[in-house]
Amino acid sequence: MSERLYIFDTTLRDGEQVPGCQLNTVEKIQVARQLEKLGVDVIEAGFPVSSPGDFNSVIAISKAVTWPTICALTRAVQKDIDCAAEALQYAKHKRIHTGIGTSDAHIKYKFGSTREDILERAVAAVKYARRYVDEVEFYAEDAGRTDNEYLARVVEAVIKAGATVVNIPDTTGYCLPADYGAKIRYLMEHVDGIDKAILSTHCHNDLGMATACTLEGVLNGARQVEVTVNGIGERAGNTSLEEMAMILRCHRELGIDTNINTTCIYATSRMVSSLMNMPVQANKAIVGRNAFAHSSGIHQDGVLKNAGTYEIMNPKDVGIDEGSIILTARSGHAALRHRLDVLGISVDDARLDEIYQEFLRLADRKKEVTDDDILMLAGADRAMSHAVKLDYLQVTSGLGVRPVAAVILDIAGEKFDAAAEGNGPVDAAIRAVKSIIKRKMTLKEFTIQAINKGSDDVGKVHMQVEHDGALYYGFGANTDIVAASVEAYIDCINKFRK
Ligand code: KIV
Ligand code: ZN
Repeated sequence: MSERLYIFDTTLRDGEQVPGCQLNTVEKIQVARQLEKLGVDVIEAGFPVSSPGDFNSVIAISKAVTWPTICALTRAVQKDIDCAAEALQYAKHKRIHTGIGTSDAHIKYKFGSTREDILERAVAAVKYARRYVDEVEFYAEDAGRTDNEYLARVVEAVIKAGATVVNIPDTTGYCLPADYGAKIRYLMEHVDGIDKAILSTHCHNDLGMATACTLEGVLNGARQVEVTVNGIGERAGNTSLEEMAMILRCHRELGIDTNINTTCIYATSRMVSSLMNMPVQANKAIVGRNAFAHSSGIHQDGVLKNAGTYEIMNPKDVGIDEGSIILTARSGHAALRHRLDVLGISVDDARLDEIYQEFLRLADRKKEVTDDDILMLAGADRAMSHAVKLDYLQVTSGLGVRPVAAVILDIAGEKFDAAAEGNGPVDAAIRAVKSIIKRKMTLKEFTIQAINKGSDDVGKVHMQVEHDGALYYGFGANTDIVAASVEAYIDCINKFRK
């Protein structure tokens, strides 16, 4: 009989802290419903006191999903806890996640305090949160660098105060896997009352060890893991959900099981990548484009004879249905509907028809329409609500020609035109846009990516623009990479004009 490991997904909280990856409430609901389908036990829906947007998202997600527990983050501060409790009012199962930094660095520099005072604040926060909910999770921020003896005192005290789960975050991604595992073991062996709570891992990937640390935590007694889809998260990200789920599935001898329906992994990964405009690296374990692509002749020969020669898991186990990934201009509504279903997107017939018309236009321009293209088409209506839209673009460029661009922007229904020269077609087009918008903007990051193969592919552009001291992230996708670049630039503009 396997032991159960609880999956706590923080894509919508820690994952969403990535600059430029913010989702609106409708998008968060879409992700939360997909997480429910995937089978996660807990969805961390936000940090309600941090903004009205987060507060409202926790409410909306609480209403939208049924069986996962909805969790809201707080500091060890009464007003945060009051706010989280209010945001969780509609959740069928609810949890408050409160906590405070416990490493000497946090105690001294962040709080200017003492170990005793921090311990008291931790206990007070847990007791206060228990007045609202039965499930209280306590996080000891920077536990990875916290002295084990003191950490054990804190964990013991918060369990006594009513914490049902205690989270041991390696906030800075510093721990070696063996040390993180030993920390969990130490707590399992030295905390009185440890059987009354579940220990949780929460590892960051700064040194590329998040999944290894998480696994060590589990092997040493943790029974909840905090993870994100695609390992998305601040800096180098968090432990990736799909890696933990598939490690435990491939290594059944460990005797630890999750509730994850692994066949929903691929759809969830594509949805999060597309909505958050965060490309998945090609060689990312489990969900990267190359994760199951054997290119060497020896491997291909072996896999064709017997997949088990080089494959430790079947692509179908993670929901990659290779035969039907590619659609062409001859594909009908039913094939498109099937792909959208596989990708976790449900649309009514009218919306399906709109997407289908867009799909046909794209399929005319490129032979094969991939899942990434479909996700882009399905999300295209997001751009329709933007105040600034690209209405017209013409660019002249080439060897020995000074590039020049003419642009017409539709701003809240009114048309504005401009032309400009530049040192290349993108530079010319962006100068033309800037001459209409007349705001100081600095382009900080600009990447163009062709997702698949072939010169007819859709170019996907990610941009970061600085305006008034803040960074805004934009995305554009088009078979014309100059148009994609201008769309990404305009996406940034729409964000700071909100
Ligand atoms: O990394 C961390 O310490 C966190 C806590 C707020 C749980 O995200
Ligand atoms: Zn974190």
